[in-house]
Parts: sequence; structure tokens; C-alpha cells
Amino acid sequence: MLIPIITVDGPGGAGKGAICKRLSEHLGWHLLDSGMLYRLLALSAINHHVETDNEPALKVMASALDIKFQSIAGQDGIRAWLEGEDVTDALRSEDVGLAASKVAQLPAARSALLARQRAFVELPGLVADGRDMGTVVFIEAPLKIYLTASVEERANRRYKQLLDKGQSDTLPRLVEAIKARDESDMNRAVAPLKPAPDALTIDSTLMTIDEVCQQVLDEAAKRGLF
Ligand code: C5P
Repeated sequence: MLIPIITVDGPGGAGKGAICKRLSEHLGWHLLDSGMLYRLLALSAINHHVETDNEPALKVMASALDIKFQSIAGQDGIRAWLEGEDVTDALRSEDVGLAASKVAQLPAARSALLARQRAFVELPGLVADGRDMGTVVFIEAPLKIYLTASVEERANRRYKQLLDKGQSDTLPRLVEAIKARDESDMNRAVAPLKPAPDALTIDSTLMTIDEVCQQVLDEAAKRGLF
């Protein structure tokens, strides 16, 4: 039986995490947060003092990563363990995000993570969140979404998230950080961030999470995915 997959790609801060979590809960499908895999690899490199451009070492590390995921009802996102330690909060830091986008530029590290990502495909279905889910990892997916939002709106969302966590930053700095990450993700040689030719683009700048989810669910229903 063909296992249905919905891919959601797009730049950081477009709302992919919240949308994918909501969709997977609503449908009762599995959830892959592929960014978390890149963040785990980056954190492992930092912990073991491996440079983020050491491709041979990162390839070996990516194949051998000792990780565990758990989705906790009522909480946003997934919790992750690296070598037995709950590293969920550490993974969200800007430093780890930046290191993740560096290791993500290495073809050998990316291909070492492919099998791990594909292993998430299980009945009754999968919602896959990332940058290249529809263009590389699951090109056969019957529904591909490219979720985007303006840089200013994404910076605003990040600003509010930081405030909620008791941290702070300035909006202009967040705008710069987001632009830098976009630049690195969209212009890298391997698996650059771009919409798949058959993707449906949704601009979430003026939309609520509910509205985006509803549009994706309507599209999935139209295509007979559930
Ligand atoms: O989505 P998140 O911000 O957690 O991803 C962290 C970094 O991992 C991204 O900036 C991107 O460089 C990389 N990534 C990727 N391919 C994916 C998911 C994330 O290259 N499928």
C-alpha cells in the first residue's frame, strides 16, 4: 500500500513547525522534523569539537548519530535526545541553528541523513518538515507545500517566541539573522531551498495557523490522501 506523505518546505520562521505538528496530530500521521536532524548533527559536532566543514568526520558522525525523538501531546514540536541527553532546548539556540546550516551544506552529511529521514515513512502517513522534503527526500510525495512569509513577519514571530521564553533580541538583528540564513539555505550548491515544481505555495504572512492547516487539509482531501 502506498503510504501518503505531505511535505512542507520553506524558510525558517514561516510556521512549518507549528503547521506540521498540527497536521500530524489532526491526521494521526507520523512527523519528521528534518531540521532537528541537522541541528542534532551540528550539536554533536560542537560537543565533540569537530569543525562544521570537516566533511569526512561529519559523514561518519551523521551515520552513527545516537538520537531519539518523542512527540509530547500538548507541547509544540518534538523532544530530542542526543547520546541519552534531552537536548531539545539546546537545539533551538541561534548558535546551533547557524552551525546546522553549515553542516547542511556538506553533500556527504546530507546523503548520510537520507536513509534516516526515509525511515520515517510509516503507515498511516507522514508529514515531513524541512527545506528539501519535496525536492530531494520525498520527490514522490503526492502533496507538496512551500510555506513562506515575509522576512519582517518571520522576524516578528521569532521576537515574540524569544519574549515568551524570557529572552530578548532586537528586531533589526533578527531580520539580519533571518536574511543571512535564507541566503545560505537558498544559495547553497546542494539541495538549495526552493519550491518543488509541483508544490503549492502558501504565503502565511497574513494567515493564522488554523487557516494554513485548513488549506492544506482541503488540498489533501481533494487529492484523496485520507
Ligand atoms: O528548520 P530548522 O531551522 O530547524 O533547520 C536548521 C537548518 O538545517 C536550516 O537552516 C537548514 O540549513 C538545514 N536544513 C536543511 N534541510 C532540511 C532541514 C533543515 O538543510 N531538510
